[in-house]
Amino acid sequence: MMSSVAHYNRVACIAPVQCMELRHAHRACKRHLLQQALLCARTSMQRCRVLDLACGRGGDLNKLVGCSRYVGVDTANLALAELQRRAAEIGMCVEVVHGDAAHAPVPTGPFDMALCMFALHYFCDSKQHVQALLQCASARLEQGGVLCGTFERHHDTGGWGVAHHAVVGDCVDALEWRVPWDEVVALAWKAGLALVRCEPFYVTDREADNSVYGFIFQQAQAQCCGRKRTYASTEGTRDRH
Ligand SMILES: C[S@@+](CC[C@H](N)C(=O)[O-])C[C@H]1O[C@@H](n2cnc3c(N)ncnc32)[C@H](O)[C@@H]1O
Repeated sequence: MMSSVAHYNRVACIAPVQCMELRHAHRACKRHLLQQALLCARTSMQRCRVLDLACGRGGDLNKLVGCSRYVGVDTANLALAELQRRAAEIGMCVEVVHGDAAHAPVPTGPFDMALCMFALHYFCDSKQHVQALLQCASARLEQGGVLCGTFERHHDTGGWGVAHHAVVGDCVDALEWRVPWDEVVALAWKAGLALVRCEPFYVTDREADNSVYGFIFQQAQAQCCGRKRTYASTEGTRDRH
């Protein structure tokens, strides 16, 4: 098994050809999630400044065409090079940062939307790692801005740092960590991010992909008549799942 960097650098050079149906379905779900996130952030794509954490080879670029700023962060340098190539192809202006999205020198923003699509598990090797990622996103979000992404839900995660070898056709072949979702929600709340949406990806009108969930957190600190107020605490708890 390769490291995640080696795997995603390889995938950047040799585009995956398997699991097309699933990938198409996930793409449609992500598009829907992004629309929901724009609504939550009360902005439009034209005004939206996007911070794509673990952006990979730019799988979401096409969905973000027209945004006012795009910054992508990833550990896989060849994936970033492919993202830049694809951006140039569609005439999109992008900035990239190479490094761990939790610790890299990411521009301070502010951003209206941060993304963490199909990558949260890479930060769950430790509580500190995911905490740093959440703090990075929260600190860079405009008030009312959103962090939106996906995670794979397992009923019994066993806490932090539970690794498994994930293989999905020729798309994924890397070490991943289970996402202790309830604990992530609690850490997000501490970082100032309230959970406002969490639901399974619907791969058809009727069928849900019960393992993959889409989520939206919102910057919980909002200005209200010149004073800071915090959203009701239920928005940061599991009641909203
Ligand atoms: C499954 S891909 C998802 C790419 C993109 N978000 C998408 O949905 O198309 C996961 C990405 O996470 C990146 N990654 C893994 N660990 C990371 C970390 N600590 N910091 C930044 N990127 C990371 C990998 O290099 C890979 O590009």
